[in-house]
Amino acid sequence: MKHILIIGATGQIGSELTMELRKRYGNQNVVAGYILGAEPKGELKESGPSAIVDVTDGAMIESVVREYHIDTIYNLAALLSVVAESKPKLAWKIGIDGLWNVLEVAREQGCAVFTPSSIGSFGSSTPHTKTPQDTIQRPRTMYGVTKVTTELLSDYYFNKYGVDTRAVRFPGIISNVTPPGGGTTDYAVDIYYSAVKGEKFVCPVKEGTLMDMMYMPDALNAAIMLMEADPAKLIHRNAFNIAAMSFGPETIFQAIKKHVLEFEMVYNIDPLKQRIADSWPDSLDDTCARNEWGWKPAYDLESMTVDMLEKLRAKLK
Ligand SMILES: NC(=O)c1ccc[n+]([C@@H]2O[C@H](COP(=O)([O-])OP(=O)(O)OC[C@H]3O[C@@H](n4cnc5c(N)ncnc54)[C@H](O)[C@@H]3O)[C@@H](O)[C@H]2O)c1
Repeated sequence: MKHILIIGATGQIGSELTMELRKRYGNQNVVAGYILGAEPKGELKESGPSAIVDVTDGAMIESVVREYHIDTIYNLAALLSVVAESKPKLAWKIGIDGLWNVLEVAREQGCAVFTPSSIGSFGSSTPHTKTPQDTIQRPRTMYGVTKVTTELLSDYYFNKYGVDTRAVRFPGIISNVTPPGGGTTDYAVDIYYSAVKGEKFVCPVKEGTLMDMMYMPDALNAAIMLMEADPAKLIHRNAFNIAAMSFGPETIFQAIKKHVLEFEMVYNIDPLKQRIADSWPDSLDDTCARNEWGWKPAYDLESMTVDMLEKLRAKLK
């Protein structure tokens, strides 16, 4: 039986990953780690144990790992791309000093660790189309710098100490439970809220700006599948390219407009978001994830759009 700690459990991904893991491994076996000011609420709070876990405090992580006999840590604490550009030092402290703390506890207590990387770990000099698994990673954002370092440090702990670290490079994640935390792909979530609220959508990135995206159920599945994969089959570890769909704003707008006929969109470009988006790949090659642990997404743009609109209509009613 797995005993799991999620650090950053109340964020966009953590709030849904915690519930999915509780469904699969039992409510009592999955601890939702949170920081003050970001407490769990509703079903997330009621359905299982939670504990304050600040990733910058190694002793705090260790005490929760010991108390709940944790064997697997999903470390989701981070500042996302746009926020990290305005607070680079804090982004490093949470993303890298925090990761160091997690890996040290994992080494001492024998835990497996999942710390996601991102399409943000690539930069302008990376091949942008069908970006290979192993390629140039020279990002110029602090988010990207922390993500490349995350990959290297996680591999270091595996190679040197045998800590079972594994991760994926998430694309922009589209979801309808918890709003995104300040990333460059947030527009692809916001656009659905505007459509359902009957508002005109103001798009912050230019027509033709292609980025990889994924619907939350596929993202959760990827994380859990990878952590359950047979280690003997893993040639790579930190971190796997995964992909589901790639589009620009005009394409997602048309996909929504098919179902919301009166929907309108205008552009008002945010220079920071545009600069970051331009430096990221248009589409990733996820062959290694498919071959090494059987990755395969279930949702494309059309099926995601149908589900997003249905869920948001029920939520915002
Ligand atoms: N959402 C996406 O589109 C996306 C894409 C690529 C990668 N990722 C990665 O996935 C992970 C989770 O992202 P998310 O979208 O859920 O982010 P989010 O901003 O929604 O959530 C981050 C969580 O970290 C917590 N946190 C902040 N400081 C902390 C600290 N000191 N100690 C412990 N927790 C702290 C926050 O309270 C929050 O719950 C991050 O590593 C992110 O870089 C996300």
